[in-house]
Amino acid sequence: MLLSDNAAPASPEILDYICRNLQNCSDLPYGEDQQTQQLDTVVSEIFGTDTKVFPVLSGTAANCLALSAMCSSTGTIVTHRESHLCQSENTAPHFFTGGAALHRIGQGPDLISVDELRDYCCNTPWGDVHSALPQVLAIAQVSELGRAYSTEHLAELGAVCDEYGLGLYMDGARFANAVAMLSCDPADISWKAGVKALTFGAIKNGTFSAEALVVFDHKLYPVIRQKAKQAGHLASKMRYLSAQLIAYFSDELWLRNARNANEAAATLAATLQKHPECELAMEAQTNQLFVQMPPDLHQQLSHKGFELYPWRVNDTACYRLVTNWATDQKVLDEFECALAAFSRASR
Ligand SMILES: Cc1ncc(COP(=O)(O)O)c(C=O)c1O
Repeated sequence: MLLSDNAAPASPEILDYICRNLQNCSDLPYGEDQQTQQLDTVVSEIFGTDTKVFPVLSGTAANCLALSAMCSSTGTIVTHRESHLCQSENTAPHFFTGGAALHRIGQGPDLISVDELRDYCCNTPWGDVHSALPQVLAIAQVSELGRAYSTEHLAELGAVCDEYGLGLYMDGARFANAVAMLSCDPADISWKAGVKALTFGAIKNGTFSAEALVVFDHKLYPVIRQKAKQAGHLASKMRYLSAQLIAYFSDELWLRNARNANEAAATLAATLQKHPECELAMEAQTNQLFVQMPPDLHQQLSHKGFELYPWRVNDTACYRLVTNWATDQKVLDEFECALAAFSRASR
């Protein structure tokens, strides 16, 4: 299965942790429980700073709750034109913020450049009551096309945000894949670069229903709790979400899983490069590949169980292939066999 990392199974370590720790366990509701408190400690250790974590059950909820605390209903969220926020969250950003605008920037396929942000800020009519003024820059790490912002790039974006008073929000649906690819300290690509809140993606990488909204700017946390209650996202039995995340963050499971996914994608990319009918539309950095291929090959792959979403990279039509923590050699071999069968048949 290479359709999506959302198709990945839950990590056995996480299921096991829940069975061991939460059977016959009564505790306080709405996040006052011991698991949720322990989660703050575990995540604070990973980032080397005091963080608060708010568990939710989807990336969209995490993104939009964070943004609702960072942007008022009269403000603007600046983001890439291809961002998940713009393309895949329906009107949730407007719904959660009570009407904030989304402003799309970015000439490149996925990453926002420092010059683009600076130009936009320079040309903003600050103080004009007729304009919805920018309050937040929202970026995805990794990007929607699987590439990572470097530490330096993020630090420069963070500096421009500081200069113009914008909050920096990071959609880290695949943050772990970025850390694995960059081999960096998670702090360097988050709060040290000025990120105020981060969704540390977990569902695609091991949990079954918990995403971690990591809050570095503590004054946002009570607002997020209020907004979550208003939107119906304050889980009464939050401890079951928190427990998944404790297991996910323990013993570097998040990092081991992301490394597996990235390595599987690298193997897949090498296989694809041996087949001239396939062409990578984007450099393969993490666990997503964007591949141009003839329609009959796509059809044959679907018949063999490899369904793929059609995608676009700039104006190029292609298909997205996504590996996950559980993509094993058997899947990679089966894919290679399917490609080889197509090549033989077309000779
Ligand atoms: C970049 C990005 N952000 C956020 C999400 C989370 O979305 P969901 O609300 O489906 O969990 C996804 C999921 O595909 C994503 O790719």
